[in-house]
Amino acid sequence: MPSPLIQLDDVHFAWPGQPRLLDIASFTLDRGERVFLKGPSGSGKTTLLGLLGGVLLPGNGSIRVLETDLPSLSASARDRFRADHTGYIFQMFNLLPYLSVVENVTLPCRFSPLRRGRALAHNDSLEQCATGLLAGLGLSDPALLRRSVNELSIGQQQRVAAARALIGSPELVIADEPTSALDADSREAFLRLLFAECERGGSSLLFVSHDSSLEPLFDRALSLGELNRAAPTAEVL
Ligand SMILES: Nc1ncnc2c1ncn2[C@@H]1O[C@H](COP(=O)(O)OP(=O)(O)OP(=O)(O)O)[C@@H](O)[C@H]1O
Ligand SMILES: [Mg+2]
Repeated sequence: MPSPLIQLDDVHFAWPGQPRLLDIASFTLDRGERVFLKGPSGSGKTTLLGLLGGVLLPGNGSIRVLETDLPSLSASARDRFRADHTGYIFQMFNLLPYLSVVENVTLPCRFSPLRRGRALAHNDSLEQCATGLLAGLGLSDPALLRRSVNELSIGQQQRVAAARALIGSPELVIADEPTSALDADSREAFLRLLFAECERGGSSLLFVSHDSSLEPLFDRALSLGELNRAAPTAEVL
């Protein structure tokens, strides 16, 4: 059996001056798995993703991604690790308005020679890789690609954010409620495209959402309230 992609053990986390938010005995995500994580607003989903990305450090516990214990790395080694192995679709997308659509997508390759190398293994240029990913996610109109990201619809921005997370085939793609602004049909269509691109790149997907109707599309669904021993009992139900 290959080791899991993510293995969390006995992780505690509290924001400064606040009571303990997370107390997770164990959480595992296997390579290639597509997992749906749900939980009410404020329950700590984005915080947990920050821990998995090595942006936040736990009070104690072990967070192993690809057999590397993130809390034991230096801050710069954690940044490097994240750039190499994690694609992140942020809740608010975080696209950079002063970069073109294609430059936004290729940005991770500026920070990670590893992902740059992987992107160039099957493409003549990073631009070609970016436009291929965007087309795979349903954004192929050249006129759209010339616009500033601020002039794109929410659904179009979401596709740009997804392509940026996928470029260079990181082992882990984390999506923080990226579909909340879309209608039901668009949400499912986007997910199917996202799955196809994750599969092509061999990326596992951890997808956070309030929208339980998307659950059946995933290999596995988890409720943060059930996982988290620090959750108020009402959240478990
Ligand atoms: N940067 C921060 N500093 C201090 N407290 C924070 C910070 N970010 C989040 N929190 C607190 O931690 C708790 C969990 O927040 P988090 O953003 O993880 O929830 P969430 O489950 O992602 O919610 P949502 O579904 O609304 O996105 C909340 O009580 C929030 O106020
Ligand atoms: Mg959140």
